[in-house]
Amino acid sequence: MKIAVVKEQAAGERRVAATPETVKKFKALGADVAVEAGAGLTASIADADYAAAGATVGDRAATVAGADIILGVQGPAADSLAGAKPGAWIAAGLNPFGERARVDAYAAAGFEALAMEFMPRITRAQSMDILSSQSNLSGYKAVLDAAAEYGKAFPMMMTAAGTVSAAKAFIMGVGVAGLQAIATARRLGAQVSATDVRAATKEQIESLGAKAIFVEKVAGIEGEGTGGYATEMSDEYKAAQAELVSAHIAKQDIVITTALIPGRPAPRLITDAQIATMKPGSVIVDLAVEQGGNVEGAVAGEVVERHGVKIVGHRNVPSRLATDASALFSRNLYNFLSAFWDKDKNAPVLDEEIGNAIRLTQGGKVVNERLLA
Ligand code: NAI
Repeated sequence: MKIAVVKEQAAGERRVAATPETVKKFKALGADVAVEAGAGLTASIADADYAAAGATVGDRAATVAGADIILGVQGPAADSLAGAKPGAWIAAGLNPFGERARVDAYAAAGFEALAMEFMPRITRAQSMDILSSQSNLSGYKAVLDAAAEYGKAFPMMMTAAGTVSAAKAFIMGVGVAGLQAIATARRLGAQVSATDVRAATKEQIESLGAKAIFVEKVAGIEGEGTGGYATEMSDEYKAAQAELVSAHIAKQDIVITTALIPGRPAPRLITDAQIATMKPGSVIVDLAVEQGGNVEGAVAGEVVERHGVKIVGHRNVPSRLATDASALFSRNLYNFLSAFWDKDKNAPVLDEEIGNAIRLTQGGKVVNERLLA
């Protein structure tokens, strides 16, 4: 059983899919591990550290030669994996909807592609969930990115020269990233409020010491779809939400948006007209910018200014904390493979529930129902 860890090729991707810690653990399971030279450098891991953990380090061809399982953060190009075993697994964040052509190429090349972001949200898979592990870091980093762009302080300070007032921060979308953003903004001393469409988040917001801002008068909205995810809201709800947000946002210094709906473009939460009501110098961070954006005018990969308000649209925010993001991503992959490890076969054997959820290609075909639907 050979596990190959490839160096990421995507622009701006600084993470790596294994660390010396997970290499050691895979070795302890009975696997051989090969790491492509330089794979860990942008996450501050030297080739020598992988070698010391028991991996062989070589070029791409040597790394994938004879591999049974290929690990990546993002999906490696199918034609860069020549020499891997027929039917080898590719376990990575594969962006199945956005990178459909690559999924087809995996099928054509006979790989079994496993999309780690399709991991079901069930208790036993929590430790394998890359969306959670990476979103948590994104929520933290979004607040730091906002603070870096903001020309004022977050905490209230009483000094001999006078008082500095606390920043007001508003978090829109309280999933994994939003909860961490609330906690981080609170730790920095901001006055924090937050909103979501899922009623269950109200208590979570309040338990973190923030104020919950919720649409109250629209009946029958729970906002919760399958797996704890949000669903598309009614037009009536959207209108009520827009009115509520308009009144609130004009008083905010910092806004962090994290709202996503699986399989759909991100919902538009802030319009240009609403931005125009904010104070100059305010900062908005749009964590959904790569999924279409929650904020009108946000540009992926840029910090733009509208009406004196900075709109931060960094791409791939977890990669901005590459060392921790890699450590958690690598553990997600290890937790996944080790949970299914069959000692007699010295290989992982997936069960139906998780296998069907994450397997995109098998036997030369695309097999995942979310892609076939
Ligand atoms: P997400 O990244 O899909 O969306 C972020 C947040 O945006 C969600 O809270 C969503 O309700 C909210 N949102 C969507 N449309 C909105 C709108 N129009 N206005 C305001 N907010 C809007 O969500 P994430 O972070 O992946 O978490 C979703 C749920 O899944 C949470 O309840 C989380 O606790 C749960 N979860 C469960 C796991 C497990 O059991 N293994 C693992 C990770 C998360």
